[in-house]
Amino acid sequence: MREGFVKALLEWYYSHKRDLPWRHTSDPYKIWISEIMLQQTRVQAVIQYYLAFTRELPDIRSLASCEEQKLLKLWEGLGYYNRARNLQKAACEIENRFGGHFPERIEDIRSLPGIGRYTAGAVGSIAFGLPEPAVDGNVLRVWARLTSYEENILTEKAKSAAESFVKNLLDNTSPDGCAFKPGNLNQALIELGAVVCLPAGEPKCEECPLSSVCLGYKHGTWEKLPLKIKKNSRRIEELTVLIVRCGNKTAILKRSSGGLLKGLYGFPTVEGHVSAEEAVAFVSAKGYDALHVRPLKSAVHIFSHIEWHMTGYEIRVSDFSSDGGPWHFAGFEELQNETPVASAFAPYTETINLMLGKRGKRTSL
Ligand code: ADE
Repeated sequence: MREGFVKALLEWYYSHKRDLPWRHTSDPYKIWISEIMLQQTRVQAVIQYYLAFTRELPDIRSLASCEEQKLLKLWEGLGYYNRARNLQKAACEIENRFGGHFPERIEDIRSLPGIGRYTAGAVGSIAFGLPEPAVDGNVLRVWARLTSYEENILTEKAKSAAESFVKNLLDNTSPDGCAFKPGNLNQALIELGAVVCLPAGEPKCEECPLSSVCLGYKHGTWEKLPLKIKKNSRRIEELTVLIVRCGNKTAILKRSSGGLLKGLYGFPTVEGHVSAEEAVAFVSAKGYDALHVRPLKSAVHIFSHIEWHMTGYEIRVSDFSSDGGPWHFAGFEELQNETPVASAFAPYTETINLMLGKRGKRTSL
């Protein structure tokens, strides 16, 4: 079964693979450049960058000695400029540690800056025939559907399982019959993911050389696979909330039209977690005379893409002008019944209720 599987996959690859420039070379340097570029950009867009880069910097030495400005220009438009810097750092290390020859042992390849498990496996297998898996997003998807893996694929556990699956194929396939090469097996899986086992829209199962052994196809689970649950990618914003009070009134302001919670009311805030002195200075700069400051509890509010991590102070001021000033001073009734104070501020709205000894309903949206 395993032999048949690999044979079917490789035969499909040999007759369907796209003609891509990095598939015409066995130079590890060029294969490495292509693999780094392919991690961030579509294949069609990479072709031009790859050709220009390898024309201008055809080998490790030229990359190692390239001026940063020129390097970044060649990378311009690809984004993730640190990847270009890491390429150069790695080229310098190859010069210093390996006498300018791209290392052939997987541990040495992996020890280079910017080279992780995927890149090491891809370069090692394609350039040197090492039986090392190269599991990128394409391969992970193919594997999840093939094996009907119904757990989250964005985990170390899933990646390791996919790598073991591919490693097993690499270690147990005899070369006869299907012109077996580790690099071709890895690229065949990548290719299958890119052009048949598609990430968006329906996979082309009728064209797939593996459909007869695909559990996702057999059980009809391919539609909901792979399962991807992203880790919390919310941005954390720290801010200090100011409960500025004068008598029984509290300062509020309408939030600016461009930002988060636009049009709602909130309490004045300062970016970052500031000290009591800085909070008082902020209030004084707005024209209010601070009499007393007291720290309040900290709180967290979670929006879909942002988390507010808040600290707060109650600051008593001596006076406010009712017909001006940057802030509006609202009485309890107004806060309670009229003004839409964003629920992100609820922990501090409750503070006001407590200060007034009332248990009023939430004044939030
Ligand atoms: N994506 C990552 N590596 C690739 C390769 N060698 N060929 C095509 N697409 C790829």
